Amino acid sequence: MNETQLEKLFSSGILIDENVKSAEINDVDWLIVQLKSANITFLDQKTLHDIYKETVVSQDTYIEITKNYKGGTSASKPADWVIYFNDRFNRLKNLLLNKGISGIMSISQVKEMPIGSDVKFIAMISDISISPIKKFTIIEVEDTTSSYKVISPTAEPDLLPDQVVIITGKKSKDAIFAKSIIFPDIQVKENEPVAIEDAFVLFLSDIHIGSKLFAREAFEKFITWISGKTNEYSEIAGAVKFIVIIGDLVDGIGVYPDQEKELSLTDLKSQYSELYKLLKNVPKNIKILISQGNHDATHIAEPQPGLDPIFGEELYKLENAVFLSNPYQVNLVVGGHKTNLLGYHGFSITYYVNNIDRYNKMTVEDVASIMRLQLKSRHLAPTHGSAQIVPLTQDYLVIDETPDIYAAGHIHKALISKYKETILVNASCWQYQTLYQKKYGINPEVAKVPIINLKNKEFMMLDFLGEKVQIYKKGIKT
Ligand SMILES: [Fe+2]
Ligand SMILES: [Fe+2]
Repeated sequence: MNETQLEKLFSSGILIDENVKSAEINDVDWLIVQLKSANITFLDQKTLHDIYKETVVSQDTYIEITKNYKGGTSASKPADWVIYFNDRFNRLKNLLLNKGISGIMSISQVKEMPIGSDVKFIAMISDISISPIKKFTIIEVEDTTSSYKVISPTAEPDLLPDQVVIITGKKSKDAIFAKSIIFPDIQVKENEPVAIEDAFVLFLSDIHIGSKLFAREAFEKFITWISGKTNEYSEIAGAVKFIVIIGDLVDGIGVYPDQEKELSLTDLKSQYSELYKLLKNVPKNIKILISQGNHDATHIAEPQPGLDPIFGEELYKLENAVFLSNPYQVNLVVGGHKTNLLGYHGFSITYYVNNIDRYNKMTVEDVASIMRLQLKSRHLAPTHGSAQIVPLTQDYLVIDETPDIYAAGHIHKALISKYKETILVNASCWQYQTLYQKKYGINPEVAKVPIINLKNKEFMMLDFLGEKVQIYKKGIKT
């Protein structure tokens, strides 16, 4: 801002944060009108960002936010948990009722039915065990009216504690003999090509700036590529409309024992500033969606609100950035065509790697199966305890809407796959193997970038680790 602009703001009664004084403003009179109409008397970086962010988007490319947790408190008292669990149960119950299955009863109504009756009811799974002799699955279930026992004659590998399902079966004296177990599951979406030009969305995750193991050279190669200064795949770089960054933007402070030994930047603000210095080189016509992970400057319990403007102050200078919660859901809009994106950092994925034996090698197939289970359960942490939770009045981890793309990170692996017509993405990382990962035998896949064409849903992955940018074939499952 120049002296005249500053003077105009001061004389209009607006105080200005020191950091905003270096911002470039075209029309100060317009800005003053915006501030006055919103009753704002103090202009800081976040306020400036919020005012300008909608004006820099070209008319045919923008984001519609459908789910974004803005913060809110919970005392985590028993009563809060009751409200939270009721909301979770009712949201999942409504998704099941939308399937149009008639004759659904409550468990207390089932109990009043004569022995031998066919019954259908919606219940939350409270316990699952396998009978040792006959391999039956014995399931304890409950709803808001009562609880009951269900016996299924088959193994039920996709059944998890705390899922909400429809059970159909026959009533016996002490239990229901299940005929079918119906999951909320996602809908099959039509993926017809649309009449737009090539328009790409690409995915980054787990950048871990501030770590000595940050893959700086590879990340800078990515920035050079997206800026159109690389020969390889430049036609893709030129048609990227959205960059989605799914958390663990920085390495954070005190996240794991002895972390300080592996840090190059030991305060959060300078870690985020370093990210800003890199992302400010991304062309301004590309929207950057930024959300949080367990290493970022927020509480670990989910949902996590958007980036804290105190720590991430510099990033709020990016007028092409949108700051979102973890998880979130948005529509990526290009030429009137909407692609629904569900973004979740992925903390609960490691719980299932550790707790379901068949997934414990954490291969790309295992991760895809866990992401598929989340969609099938219509919940990002179906088992209570698979992620820490803030017990709010709304359960933000329920997947209310079927996404076209479900993108996660956290496990530092590169994956692009499909479940029904929904594309599954795990967005690799930009951090070489840490001592902690070495101890647990985790080999990260570094600097891989999944890319989807919004025109026809075709996908691919680029590798920025080698000398030249090249196609990465591993981790792509069609
Ligand atoms: Fe990470
Ligand atoms: Fe993480």
